[in-house]
Order: sequence, then C-alpha cells, then structure tokens
Amino acid sequence: MVMVAHCQTPLVTEKIKFNIKPINKYIVHRSSTKVKKEILLIPSKAVSLSTIKIYRNNPIWSLNVKTKSKTHTLKQKRDRYEMHKYWGKKPSSNLKHLIEKYSETGDTVFDPFSGYGVFCCEAFILNRNIISNDLNPIANFLNHQLLNKEINIPLLERQWEKIKLEFEPFNKQWFRWQLEGNPVQLISILRNKKNVPIKAKYKQQGDKKAKEIHLSPEKVNEYLAYEKEFEINDWYPTNKLIPNSRISAKEGMTIADLFTKRTLACHARLLKLINKHATGKEKELLKVAFTANLANCSKLVPPIKSRGDMAPGAWMTGFYIGPTYLENNVLKYFENRLNKVIKGKKDYLNQFGNKGELNFNPISYNNTFTILQDDAKSLSIESETVDYIFTDPPYGDAVPYFEQSIIWNSWLKFSTNYKEEIVISDSKKREKNKVTFEEDMNIAFTEIRRVLKPNKYFSLTYHSLSGLEWKAITNACIKNGFELLDFQWLVQKTFTPRQLNRLKSIKGDVLVTFQKGHLPQKLTVKSDFEVATIFINKIKYWLEKQELDTNEIFLRIMKMVFSEKIIVGKVDLLKLLVENFTFSEKQKWVLHDELTV
Ligand SMILES: C[S@@+](CC[C@H](N)C(=O)[O-])C[C@H]1O[C@@H](n2cnc3c(N)ncnc32)[C@H](O)[C@@H]1O
Repeated sequence: MVMVAHCQTPLVTEKIKFNIKPINKYIVHRSSTKVKKEILLIPSKAVSLSTIKIYRNNPIWSLNVKTKSKTHTLKQKRDRYEMHKYWGKKPSSNLKHLIEKYSETGDTVFDPFSGYGVFCCEAFILNRNIISNDLNPIANFLNHQLLNKEINIPLLERQWEKIKLEFEPFNKQWFRWQLEGNPVQLISILRNKKNVPIKAKYKQQGDKKAKEIHLSPEKVNEYLAYEKEFEINDWYPTNKLIPNSRISAKEGMTIADLFTKRTLACHARLLKLINKHATGKEKELLKVAFTANLANCSKLVPPIKSRGDMAPGAWMTGFYIGPTYLENNVLKYFENRLNKVIKGKKDYLNQFGNKGELNFNPISYNNTFTILQDDAKSLSIESETVDYIFTDPPYGDAVPYFEQSIIWNSWLKFSTNYKEEIVISDSKKREKNKVTFEEDMNIAFTEIRRVLKPNKYFSLTYHSLSGLEWKAITNACIKNGFELLDFQWLVQKTFTPRQLNRLKSIKGDVLVTFQKGHLPQKLTVKSDFEVATIFINKIKYWLEKQELDTNEIFLRIMKMVFSEKIIVGKVDLLKLLVENFTFSEKQKWVLHDELTV
C-alpha cells in the first residue's frame, strides 16, 4: 500500500501519516539486515495520525504499511444489514470485492439462497441486475424491504406517530406501576419458568438510569391481577411449532406459548394498529421492525447472568425458555427496533445519492432487481442467462431456518413450503437427513450450473469445513463440473491443541470461487477408508517437508479433491488430523515423532 516513513536517529518517536484504518499489525523492515519487526499501530482517536516508537540503535527502518495476513476481518456492521436478525448474513465488504472481481456493471448476478439479501444488495448498489431467491417467505419479505428504494421516511414517521398515539395508552396499562404511591414505567420484569415475577427494572419520572427492585408478594399479586383479568381479543397466531428437541420445540407448543399474556396482547394490538394506520411500503417497513422485535419481547430472552439478573440478553436461535427470562416493555423495545430499521433504510438510500459511507458509483441507476421464491432445486430462470452467482448455502444441521422462522412467518400469515427446504433436521416429522441434504444440494447445484453462462464464475461460502456440509457441497461442485479457482479465508481461526480435540467441526467461513467447466467424464469414487488413507498419506508427505497450519492443510486437500475429482465420503478431515498428527505450540501440524525431539 503506502510507504510511509524513514527514520535515521536512535530512539525516535515519529509521527506517521497513513490513510487506511489502522486496526492491524504492520511489518517494519530493516533494509540493511532484512530483519523484520512486527508493530501494532494504535490509532490516536480515529484520526489518521499515529505514533510509532522505533527502537534504539536503529539505522534505517522503513515502514511498509502492509497487513500481516491477507485474512479479511468479519465485520458486519453496516446499518442496512442491522434491520433484522435473520441468520447467516455475510460480511458485505468481502462481497463488494467479489462482485467487482467477477462481474461487470450491468451484468445479471444471482443468489439462489439469498436470505436477508446481503449479496444481492451489495450487487444492486454496484449497478448489477440482480435476482435473489429464497424459499423462506420471511427472507424474501426482508430482502424486498431492504432493496426497495420507493420509501418515504417522513411519511413512515408520521404513520408511526398515529399508531403510537393509540398504542401508548394500551401498552401503558400493562407496563404502568406504582411505587410508594408514584407512577413508574416498567422496562422489564424478570420472571421464572413458572412465569412468576421476581424482579422489576423501572424508571421514575426524571430518572436517567433504570433501577431494579425485588418484588414483594403484594407487588407480585398486583402485577398479576391485570394479566388475569384481561382477555385478548386481537388476532395473534396459534400455529404449532414443529417438534424438534434440538431447538427445544416441544410437542404441542404454539407460537403463543413463546410469549407472556402481556407481550402477546401488546404485540397483537401493535400489529392491528400497524394494519389500521399504515399503508404502502411504509407499512411493510413497520412490519420489518415488528417481526424484528418479536423475539426481543418474548420468553426467549434470558438475562446475561454474568452481567447481572436483569442484564438484557438477545434471542439467537431455538425456542429454549431458560430458568428465568425477561419480559420486556413492547413499546420501548419496538421503538428501538424501528429506529434501527429507519437508520438501515437511510444508509441504503444514501448509497444511491453518493452520500453514503462508501461512496458507491454515483452513476444513474437503471438496473433492476427480481426477487423469486423458488425452490432452488427447480428455478424459474432461463438457462445460461446469469453472469455471476454467489451463494451461502443452507448450513446442514446447524440452522433449521424454516422451523425457526415460524416465529416471524406466523405473525405475517406467510405459509412455508417445509417439504422443499434443503436442511438436515432432527425433527422426526420432517425426514430431512444427511442423505436427502446431499441429494438436494446436488440438484440445486445442477440448477446453478444450468442458469450460469458458460465459463462464468460461481462463488460460495462454506459454513463448516468438516463433516456433512463440507462433503455435500464439495461433492455437488465436483459432480456439476465446477473447477476450483480461488480459496480465501474470511476468518483465520487458530485453535489451541486442547480446543481442537474438543471441536466437532471447523467453523468455516471460507470463500471459494469456481469456474463453470465441462461436466466430469470420470469421477473417482472411493470408499471412506480409501479416501481417509489418501488424505493421511498426502498430509504426511507435506508435513515431512514443512509444518502446516490447519487452514493450509484444508486448502491443499481441497485442491487435490478438485483436481482429481474425488467424491468424498464420510471423511472428517479435522478428526483425521487430530487422530494422526500433532498440533504444536506454534499452532502448526507436525508429524508425531518430530515433537518428541
Ligand atoms: C445460509 S442462509 C443464507 C443467508 C444469506 N447469506 C443472508 O445474507 O442472509 C441459507 C438460505 O437458504 C434458504 N433455503 C433453504 N432451502 C431452500 C430451497 N430449497 N430453496 C431456496 N432457498 C432455500 C433458507 O431459507 C436460508 O435463507
């Protein structure tokens, strides 16, 4: 990047200017002896000046502003991607770079498993025509709200004011409370598994900081009295969860069971008022905030115990209700959510006015977006019409997207095609297992091949690098004639030997790019034992020459698998490494006997 400083005096403190975000380590070269030193640049309050101490008896050091490794950091904090918690969003900065590398302005790019739509959004901003596709209706709904440019934020704010005027008194009845004769506003209540209130967090008029109080039996009765008497007449969903012990969805459990009567009543009324007072695209955006807030005000929010009984936690996945949970004030939390949604939308709209943080192309935009809700196994796209495909395929058994999205789909009355989801589910009712996952992935990749133009590129991310997902995706790529072109780690993980022994899989975030080639004439199908033996022998051969870290070994194995078109079976590469080699303190793999020296 930029050559910055030369220093000739001993023990100098020199101010150096640089123009990239100084979060990384840099290498300092001593030109006479070629010695390299690693230094950490510490930014002085985010301005572009930093002080570096260059050490004693120092002839000429020159500073190469060069990051230590090519690893990209996984920072995903663009406001436009913070509007909703749909799982599995990819870091947008990496995607921008990919889109520019593998496609041109005006090209058609496609994501067959688009989720929230980070890739398509970045491509749309970069003036590509985009097609996003996801079979999950909530994903498409969010993607649509993300990409839509015809939104009037002041109108949305006016619509919200109307809703709030009617909703506030309703919400207040539930979250109003008297303390020593004075009215206070409840922020949250800590309740136990039997729904008994234990503690309250509240603010009195004029208070800046919220206070916490243990609830006496009288206060508990007072709190429960309103709840007992009230009858909910507004509509709310009563859909049953699909039983799945892995995500704590029990037989007979309904969506309503995930809420207290209080949060259920408030959400039901809020949705009714959104439908009554809001219209058009603005109404849809209010529904984004509404769904984003649902889990936050459900029984699924445990306190973060290490920070205190009432420290607010957040819903991540599953329907586990802990020994205690926080019952949060729906209006207060909804307003926070709505602010995030508005901030996200403004961030998105700014990208087209060349005022945004990244100053994307200030050109005139006439590109289009299309959102499909196809099963990726049978796409309604014409053959050989797409210039570039990126995708982040389903995560095997890690996230049962549809089963969990029921908390959002049910409130918006979206119906879900569970039958065609590509997933591995522990739910006995679903018959979604390792075998169907691999078969489905293969069919989807055949479709990807069909719609992609000849010789064009296809990038994907691996979520996990061992086990089922790795096997299913790798085999689908090989069978469908994709040639390995590039392999890049989004997060460089290092593990201690102890961690490695405990790990079941390497959590990836590896970005792989392929080129559409010819369908393979011959595949090398070997037994699991044969494949494992080939891998072990190859790794031994490499390690005799040099120590390698886990990532380097994975890359070499991938190259071999693709060049020899080996169909991998139930081989867990990580397990092979742990069982057959030694992981040294230098975080490298070595042959067993080398360590004993
Ligand atoms: C890992 S996520 C993608 C997340 C995405 N990268 C984002 O930015 O949010 C995989 C997606 O595949 C979708 N999916 C699962 N089965 C599908 C199918 N048969 N057809 C299309 N999409 C499917 C899921 O709904 C999920 O959104």
